[in-house]
Amino acid sequence: MWELLPPRVRLVGAPCLSESMARQIADDYQRFCNALPRPLEAYVLARYGIDLASEYAGLRVKNPVGKASGQLSLAAHQVERDAEAGLGFVILKTVIAQDSSGDQSMRDWAIPETRMLVEPIRGRLGDEGWTVTWKGRGWFDTFAAYLHFFGQALSVAQATNMLVVPSVKYHLPGGQETLWKQEEYSFTTLRLLETWGEACGNRPMPLEKDFSPTLAGSERATQQSKIGEWLKVVPGLIHRASPGKVRVGLKMFNTLFEDDFQLQMLDVVYNARLGEDRADFLVYANRLFDPAKEFEGKLGVAYGGPDLSDRNLAVLEKFLSVRSDADRLGELPISATGDIHSGRGAAEYLLRGASSFQMHTIFQLPNGQFSMQAGSKTAKALHRLLFHPHEGLIAWLLDLKETFGWKEMNVHQMAQWCQSNWKSVVEELSSANQNA
Ligand SMILES: Cc1cc2nc3c(=O)[nH]c(=O)nc-3n(C[C@H](O)[C@H](O)[C@H](O)COP(=O)(O)O)c2cc1C
Repeated sequence: MWELLPPRVRLVGAPCLSESMARQIADDYQRFCNALPRPLEAYVLARYGIDLASEYAGLRVKNPVGKASGQLSLAAHQVERDAEAGLGFVILKTVIAQDSSGDQSMRDWAIPETRMLVEPIRGRLGDEGWTVTWKGRGWFDTFAAYLHFFGQALSVAQATNMLVVPSVKYHLPGGQETLWKQEEYSFTTLRLLETWGEACGNRPMPLEKDFSPTLAGSERATQQSKIGEWLKVVPGLIHRASPGKVRVGLKMFNTLFEDDFQLQMLDVVYNARLGEDRADFLVYANRLFDPAKEFEGKLGVAYGGPDLSDRNLAVLEKFLSVRSDADRLGELPISATGDIHSGRGAAEYLLRGASSFQMHTIFQLPNGQFSMQAGSKTAKALHRLLFHPHEGLIAWLLDLKETFGWKEMNVHQMAQWCQSNWKSVVEELSSANQNA
């Protein structure tokens, strides 16, 4: 098992706020227990001077909170509820790519799996959290059904300006395989683009390439050199399906190798030649894989919780620490995923340069975990993520604005500032950590 090294700095204690501001947030937390304010972003800007606008894949989103790909984004009614609740973006369930004859090289990932177990988990460093256990798989209906669903999702999201993004698992050669099934890349991408174009015209389509955590346990991912090759080749294959039309995001996975290898993976992505071979953004990083854990007769399952955020934050900060100022000119937008269950957690990723936050597990927590009593689970989660007096994003952004002297910045600009000023972030947080 790889060694879990804790992140160097954390946001500790309560956010530092004036008494009146702390009271204002606590009042709002109570006040919005039944319904969130509308429009949400205008309210937050007017009341707190915080501009929640940000970017995902280089595209504007009204706020940085999104739903990650999974079982909670595979039906139009789910997407509709998320739009109503006020999410900034939703990533649809991963579809398994196919060629024009319907052949899917990754068909092992396209089988129905429904039972999910939501359970508490204790991290290796002692923190408590939540994880979902299931036998992880992708979309299991036809590709035509996915395209129909994608079209529906784009249409229900339009009224509230919520970004909808497809997610795809394309062919990845394993072991001794040298051939890339390029037609899977071109056929699947072009069909998705057709559906996107009907709703969104000529705007570029963001797309996540899912390197799922279960890959970590598959034979395909036992060789580091092979994983490096995937990361190098995949962006070009997707881009070349329709040059200039797709923003390719790589949803990185946590391998069974040590953190140094995670850093090497990031190096491969960042050091790619500018142009078609380079990804347009990163999603960092999908769940961990435990080859020894058994669930319903299957050995080896993905898991999340505190180990996931600890590992992701530690790797991202190491990556920022070793990059020189010249390297930073080529930074990629980062969308964070992994154990984000509070605004504090989102702010931890923001400090490491992430401009959007996508989550899954929080939307599956039992109702007892939320103070909001009415509305959908998405609304309950948004209420907690934004307005919680000690753990919420509003409280933490106000704290960070004060700490770093940020003025008139939206969330995207804050993330960019952190990427370019990582040394200052470490200095400030180190002294706060020492005083805590
Ligand atoms: C039940 C379940 C199904 C998931 N399915 C997918 C998927 O189809 N594609 C994908 O890219 N990620 C999938 N994920 C990963 C999530 O999108 C997310 O990145 C990950 O769970 C980390 O976020 P969290 O800690 O907030 O859950 C799934 C996660 C869970 C728990």
